[in-house]
Amino acid sequence: MIPLNQRLKNVSKYIIGDLLADIGSDHAYLPIFAIENNLTKQAIAGEVIKGPFEASQRSVAEHQLGKVIDIRLGDGLSVLEDSNNVTTVTICGMGGPLIAKILNEGQFKLNNKPRLVLQSNVQSSAIRKLLPNLGYTITNEEIFEEKGHIYEIIVADFSEHPGTMTEQALKFGPVLLLNKNEYFYKKWQHEKDALLKIKSNLNEQQHATRLDEINKEINLINEVL
Ligand SMILES: C[S@@+](CC[C@H](N)C(=O)[O-])C[C@H]1O[C@@H](n2cnc3c(N)ncnc32)[C@H](O)[C@@H]1O
Repeated sequence: MIPLNQRLKNVSKYIIGDLLADIGSDHAYLPIFAIENNLTKQAIAGEVIKGPFEASQRSVAEHQLGKVIDIRLGDGLSVLEDSNNVTTVTICGMGGPLIAKILNEGQFKLNNKPRLVLQSNVQSSAIRKLLPNLGYTITNEEIFEEKGHIYEIIVADFSEHPGTMTEQALKFGPVLLLNKNEYFYKKWQHEKDALLKIKSNLNEQQHATRLDEINKEINLINEVL
């Protein structure tokens, strides 16, 4: 059995169906774990860079899973074919804007309406903003800490009527807001402290616009702390 860090184990809880596509798979650890733990039957591991693609090939060979994990070199969702009935897409370990870009550019590859499990390091709001445009609703979220880093997971499922989100929900997460845990408070207190530090170095005359933006951000954060 492959050992997996807690971050990707948390992601793996949300995998559904028989075909996982893990985009930006690096060493293909998540697909290997998912198959070995019967969370799915088959997987596609997509990678855009040759080094991590070859690392995926090596790990899959070591675990003798070449028959059920297909490793593909290519950009984002372009590695998926229309005939692939993907049931879950995972995109993990990247910033929110890059995950949103991959989804937006490859949206026509989501024809099977797979569940999306997206684990971002920063700026998850970019993902939340995009999801309703793709017909997806956020059905679950998690925030947690591992080795001093705070991570978020967004789970989204296709919906005929994806609702709209308030500015607050887009920034902080509609599900995370309902059940604020210690990591939620830690993350946003840290963001607020960083903004206050930037603010103290700005000059009211020279940086009026930036100061307005920062004050707006701080007010939004104050509302949830
Ligand atoms: C930081 S690693 C994360 C690996 C793994 N998903 C995890 O969470 O541990 C990000 C990986 O995504 C890959 N990547 C970045 N942009 C990509 C894209 N547009 N399409 C496919 N893979 C991409 C990178 O090459 C890198 O291997």
